[in-house]
Amino acid sequence: MAPLEEELRARLEREGQAHLLRFWAELAPAARRALLDSLAPLLGELGAHCRRAAAGAQERGPESLDGRLEPVPPEFLGSACRSDPATLQRWGEEGLHQISQNKVAVLLLAGGQGTRLGVPYPKGMYDVGLLSHKTLYQIQAERIRRVEQLAGEAFGARCSVPWYIMTSEFTLGPTEKFFQEHNYFNLERSNVVMFEQRMLPAVTFDGKVILEEKGKIAMAPDGNGGLYRALVDNKILEDMEQRGVRYVHVYCVDNILVKMADPVFIGFCVSKGADCGAKVVEKAYPTEPVGVVCRVDGVYQVVEYSEISLATAQMQNPDGRLTYSAGNICNHFFTLAFLQAVAEKFEPQLKHHVAVKKVPFVDEGGNWVKPLKPNGIKLEKFVFDVFQFSKNFVAFEVLREEEFSPLKNADTADKDTPTTARRSLLSQHYRWAVKAGARFVNDSGQRIPEKQSLSGDEEPPAVCEISPLVSYFGEGLEKYLKVKELQSPFLLDERKAETLARA
Ligand code: UTP
Repeated sequence: MAPLEEELRARLEREGQAHLLRFWAELAPAARRALLDSLAPLLGELGAHCRRAAAGAQERGPESLDGRLEPVPPEFLGSACRSDPATLQRWGEEGLHQISQNKVAVLLLAGGQGTRLGVPYPKGMYDVGLLSHKTLYQIQAERIRRVEQLAGEAFGARCSVPWYIMTSEFTLGPTEKFFQEHNYFNLERSNVVMFEQRMLPAVTFDGKVILEEKGKIAMAPDGNGGLYRALVDNKILEDMEQRGVRYVHVYCVDNILVKMADPVFIGFCVSKGADCGAKVVEKAYPTEPVGVVCRVDGVYQVVEYSEISLATAQMQNPDGRLTYSAGNICNHFFTLAFLQAVAEKFEPQLKHHVAVKKVPFVDEGGNWVKPLKPNGIKLEKFVFDVFQFSKNFVAFEVLREEEFSPLKNADTADKDTPTTARRSLLSQHYRWAVKAGARFVNDSGQRIPEKQSLSGDEEPPAVCEISPLVSYFGEGLEKYLKVKELQSPFLLDERKAETLARA
C-alpha cells in the first residue's frame, strides 16, 4: 500500500471508520482515486460528524418549550389579509421601487433530493399537469420576468431581479442542462446564478459512515440551512454586493404559489427596517404538523408541533384565533447585511437536526441492500434557524390559498401532491378570472355557474390557467377578460391576451 493510503487507513482506524476501505483490494485504480478524493475533504471533521450524528439519534424527543413561548408581538406582525388597501398599496409600491432600483434578488433553495415525490430529476423540473405543462422552474422564471416588467413600468426604469439557485450534487447538473435547453426561459443568462451546497456523509446509528457502493460513501446535502456555508463557498454575497442587491427573498422550489420578490412583502419588511422576515400562513388546526414562528425566551425561532403540548397548540386569543398560529412556509426576507453577518459570525452556531432515513448500502459481503426500515442518519441545518440572530425580525401573514401549496408527495398521498398543487393554482386563476369579469362556458356553449368563494382545496368549476407573463398577482386582467365568454378549459397566454385585448 502506498504511504498516502497507509496514512489514510491509519487515520480512518483512529476515527472508527476503517470499514470504508473494506473493499479497497477489489477497486479499480479509478474507483480508488474517486474514493480518496471523496474522503480527503471530509477527514478533518469526519470523526466529530459521526459522533454528533450517533448522539443526535440517541436523543429522546425534544423537551417541551411550553412556558417559554410568546407569539410574534402585533407590532412586528404584518398582514396581507387584515391591512387596509391603502397600506397594502404603499407596501407594494415600496417593494416595486426597490425592485426598480435593482436592489432585490430572489434565492431558490433547490438542493433537496425530493425523496417523497420520488422522481429521478430535480423537483423544479416537475410538470404538475397544467394546461401549458409548465414546470415549476418555468413558472418561477416567468414570475421574475413579470415582476421586473411591473417594477420597470411603475418607475420608468429597466431593472432586473437576479435569480440565485442553490443546488446540490444531485440537482446541479440536470438543472443547468434544463435551463440551457430552455434558453433560461428568456431570462438574461447572466442574471441566473447557480451554485452548489455541500454534502455530508450519512451515518449508521452506531456512528459508522455508510458505504453506498464498494468505493462510494453515501452522501446527502447538508440541509437548506447549508445555504449559509454555500453562500461563502461560492462567493455569492460578493456577487450580490457587486450588483447592488440589498434585499434577498429566499424560497423553496416546491411551492407552486410562491410570489417571488413579492413587492408587498418586500415593501413591508423594508418599511419596518427589518433585517430578517418570514411570511407565514394561519395554521389550519392546532395539531397541523407545521412549524410555528414565535419567540422562545425572547428569541425568534420556528417551533415544531412536537415541541409544544396540545394545550399550548390549542391556546386561543380573545378573537378565537390560535395564539400560536404563524405557520412557517419557508419564505424569507433577508438584508444582504444580515446574510453577511450570519456568514461571517453566526453560521457555526446553527444546530444540526437529525433526519432518520432509509439509506441504501453495501453489506459486509459486498451485496447492495435497499433497507425496508430507516438505517441511517443524515444531519441537516435549517434555513430558518438564523432568525435567532435577527435584531429586527418581522413576520407577514398571507392567505394560504393565495400563497402556499407545496409539492412534497407523489399522488398516492392525500396532501401536498401534484394534484393538490395543480388544483391550488387553477383555483387561484379561476378566482382571478371571475373577479376580472370573465364568464365560462362548457364545450357545448352552456354557461358554467360561477362559484364566488372557492378555496384552494376545491376543484374550480371551470379550468382556467393564466400565464405569469400576462398576470402575476391577478393584476390587469379586466382588459382581457371582462364580460368575455371563455370556453373551459381556457389558457390565457401572451398570444391569447393580445387577441382578447383587440376583440
Ligand atoms: P424538503 O425538506 O421538503 O426536502 O425541502 P426535499 O428534498 O424537497 O424533499 P424530501 O424531504 O427528500 O422528500 C424544502 C426545500 O429545501 C430545499 C428543497 O429543495 C426544498 O426547496 N433543500 C432541502 C435544499 O435546498 N437543500 C437541502 O439539503 C434540503
